[in-house]
Amino acid sequence: MAPAPTERVDTVVDVPIAILGAGPAGLMLAHRLGRSGIACVNIDLRTRAEIEGTHRAGILEAGAARDLVDTGVSDRILRDGHEHGGTELRFGGRGHRIDFRELVGGSVWLYPQTDVFIDLANARDRDGGTVHFGVTDPEVNGVETDRPTMRFTSADGVRHEVRATIVVGADGSRSMCRSLIPEAGRTQFFREYPFAWFGILAAAPKSAPELVYAHSEHGFALISQRTDAVQRMYFQCDPEEDTEAWSDDRIWETLQVRVAGDDGFSLVEGPVIEKTVLRFRSFVQQPMRWGSMVLAGDAAHTVPPTGARGLNLALHDVKVLAEVIPRALGKEGLDALDDYEPRALSRVWRAQNFSYWMTQMLHTAPGASAFDLRRQLGELDNVVSTRAGRTYLAEQYAGWPTES
Ligand code: DHB
Repeated sequence: MAPAPTERVDTVVDVPIAILGAGPAGLMLAHRLGRSGIACVNIDLRTRAEIEGTHRAGILEAGAARDLVDTGVSDRILRDGHEHGGTELRFGGRGHRIDFRELVGGSVWLYPQTDVFIDLANARDRDGGTVHFGVTDPEVNGVETDRPTMRFTSADGVRHEVRATIVVGADGSRSMCRSLIPEAGRTQFFREYPFAWFGILAAAPKSAPELVYAHSEHGFALISQRTDAVQRMYFQCDPEEDTEAWSDDRIWETLQVRVAGDDGFSLVEGPVIEKTVLRFRSFVQQPMRWGSMVLAGDAAHTVPPTGARGLNLALHDVKVLAEVIPRALGKEGLDALDDYEPRALSRVWRAQNFSYWMTQMLHTAPGASAFDLRRQLGELDNVVSTRAGRTYLAEQYAGWPTES
């Protein structure tokens, strides 16, 4: 009998770690393991150009920024990134700076996720790592055994089989790996939100030196930056919003109204060069380990973008995995993987809470009453006008140290 097309295999390799996903989580894991002499193969459905062309969040915790430099990925962040010692909460028509340095001795780096990806992909090339972009028909088998396999067709049509010891699902918010854990064995926790973000890139000079998170009766807005000539901004919108219905004039009018105030603050306008609607939700799947497979980053958890936790959480997951996996490949065996989830998950739920808290404090839910708006202003006032409130926000935003 002729084999079914998915059973055709042209090339077989034995590699300890097979990683589905070549975004920041998958590539940083391969980079870290490579430093311990452990070989990995990464695959991704997207082409390298597609990933480079997708605009994502822009804030890295100082610890994550330092790790990029110290582990030898690249020091480009020190030249092209911008260190921010604080952020602004804007409400009631006034700005209130939260000073990370003074409050918690911390800072964050504005450095787009796309640049993190570019640095990691270049580092893999430089270090001789194997990464297949633009693959089709990925398949994972045997995660309940200690000989799992990953199969895929590379962009040149060759069908590959990777015989691994551990499979890592770092395959993003639409992960196929997480559904390999049978329904009876997994729990999914999620919360949907009745709004989304309208994200733009605009060719304009900076409107503010640091990020501005703005609450207004018209809805939330976030003023971020990219370079001296290109800015990133977001405003709360309906999840079904059609970007085509938004002219530059309408976008600027919407943003200006949301940041306006007695202090005269306004945005410097320019042509809108990119616009997208970002839908979001809070999501966690447990467990994060199943047999010889572990999940990392968005595959296991997604957070709403408010507070910029997503990329930082993913990088933390793989930092823990890079310590646990060498043990699992050594004397301890796969049982060592059990150490991963408790160490990763406490941060995941803390970040879930922070992202949820920032989101509900700053956005206007459809049908919100005058009471709801005033209560939010009370909450924001509590945050900015007490040292405890400011410190709480600063500590959560600038990130926590990794517990060993
Ligand atoms: C950016 C995105 C975020 O979600 C955030 O909280 C801060 C900044 C950004 O894209 O720059």
